[in-house]
Amino acid sequence: MNRALSFLSVLVFSAFFSPAFAQDAAKGATLYAVCIQCHGDKGEGNPAQKAPKISGQHDWYTIKQITEIKNGVRKNPEMLPFVAKLTEQDIKDLAAYILTL
Ligand code: HEC
Repeated sequence: MNRALSFLSVLVFSAFFSPAFAQDAAKGATLYAVCIQCHGDKGEGNPAQKAPKISGQHDWYTIKQITEIKNGVRKNPEMLPFVAKLTEQDIKDLAAYILTL
């Protein structure tokens, strides 16, 4: 049972980190470096900065929020400088990584 489980997690892990995957979590991990100061390295958030927990969230929701913050639809002046230059692909990669936290 345990062996089967670890084999399965290797498969899931490789699927996430495979460069052929449409959302590249490994690249997302690199992009996430600037987010840690507010959201924490596990996406746990930081009440002192009013930065919410973002781990455990659906990727489509994360993509929607980052995109709306970037476009100014959702006002977030603290975070804007960190997402203003992200491409659509960067945001997908970030969301794929955040899903693994
Ligand atoms: C300077 C601090 C800061 C940095 C850096 C920052 N954020 Fe944020 N983030 C916030 C704050 C504050 C909010 C909540 C704002 C609000 O009340 O709407 C937020 C909200 C979010 C949300 C929406 C959460 C939800 O449940 O709606 C996501 C997703 C998010 N951030 C992801 C990121 C990512 C990815 C990065 C790195 C590219 C990042 N943030 C960098 C401060 C920051």
